[in-house]
Parts: sequence; structure tokens; C-alpha cells
Amino acid sequence: MTVKIAPSILAADFAHLGAEAAAAERAGADWLHLDVMDGHFVPNLTFGPPVIQSLRSHTKLPFDVHLMVTNPHDLLEDYVDAGADHITFHVEAQTDTVATLQDIRNYGKKAGLSLRPATPADTLQNFMPYLDLILVMSVEPGFGGQAFEEEILHKITEIRDMADQQDHPIEIVVDGGVKPENAQKIIEAGATTLVAGSSIFKSDNYTTAIEALRDE
Ligand code: DX5
Ligand code: ZN
Repeated sequence: MTVKIAPSILAADFAHLGAEAAAAERAGADWLHLDVMDGHFVPNLTFGPPVIQSLRSHTKLPFDVHLMVTNPHDLLEDYVDAGADHITFHVEAQTDTVATLQDIRNYGKKAGLSLRPATPADTLQNFMPYLDLILVMSVEPGFGGQAFEEEILHKITEIRDMADQQDHPIEIVVDGGVKPENAQKIIEAGATTLVAGSSIFKSDNYTTAIEALRDE
């Protein structure tokens, strides 16, 4: 099975987001990763539903929304209406996790949980039946362009083993510092999808950059 690639538009040119999303699709991307930061859960602030809605007409790629926010449950409807296909929030957010995951699925969307580098894999155990994807952070959330934390590799495998024990499929998505030099070991550790911001959008050729992540 080929790994899926989800370019993160956090590293794209924000003055031309529609063109950047379309270029990522033409270059062979599988999903578009959208990093929503609220300035509270993480120190940085990015964009919200109006920007996502504006992007919707520029690409057919599934929108993989990564909510780095303190109150995901209150915001779900806004992101569904904006065109999100996958909604992932953080297990560290102070929210009713099961109710939020169930509501995402009730909207007909894929439900995901993300965890910071220091959060142990077994934090996810009680939520596994409600998950369609797990977004394993390999950098501290908040900023693009950071270096991949090698210690995360064993956690990816641990989480992949947990997912394989379920009777429904769960995508294992790895986010942060993914580059051609480390992509293969992340895939070998158990990732099914790679998020990549800088290594795609800061390159001269998005097609080559995406192919380089899929290759050994
Ligand atoms: C960080 C974001 C990542 C980031 C990845 O908080 O969740 O999606 O954009 O960017 P790179 O690939 O540059 O680390
Ligand atoms: Zn992200």
C-alpha cells in the first residue's frame, strides 16, 4: 500500500492559497492538511472556517483539518459547513472527547485525535473505537519548519499496533518535520499518511517533492 501525502498549507504562500491548494492537487497530493491554531491551545494563530470555505472551490482534495484549539466541540459545525472532510482535535484539549468524536462521525466526517510528542500512546486507548485517524505529532504543535523528533518513531509503532487490534481501519498520520530523508523510516514505523509543510511548499517543484516522500 502506497503512503498517502497530505501537504500542509501552513508552509504555502498565504497570499495565494487557492492556487497553492490547486498546485498541491496537480502535484499528486492525496489530502490537503489545514492547520487551525487559536492562539490559546498553541501560541500561534492561523486561519479558521472562512479561509477553509474559500479554499473549497479550488481543489477536490479531501480537507484534513487539524484543530489546535482549546474548545473543539463548540466549533465542529463551523468546520463541517466550511467543507472539512476529516476533523482532528487534540487529546490534550479539555473537552468531552468521546462526545466530540461521535459528533464528528454523526456529521458524516472522519474523526481524528492528535497527540503532542510528550503524550503517551496509551492515552488513546479508551478512544480507539471512535477513531478513524490518529495524528501523531512529531514536533511540538504550533509552528511549521521544526525538526522531526526521532524518539517519536517507537510511539508510531505502538500506536499502529493498537490500531491493528481494532476491527475497523484507522489511518496513522504523522505530522511535523517530515522530509525525504526520514519519510521511509516513518513509513516503516507504521505511518499510512505523511503530513508535510516545508518539504513540499518551500520546494521548487511540488511534484518532485511529493514523489521524494513516497520513494525509498
Ligand atoms: C505544526 C503543524 C504541522 C506543520 C508541518 O503545528 O501541525 O502540520 O505545518 O509543517 P512542517 O512539515 O514544515 O514541519
Ligand atoms: Zn498539522
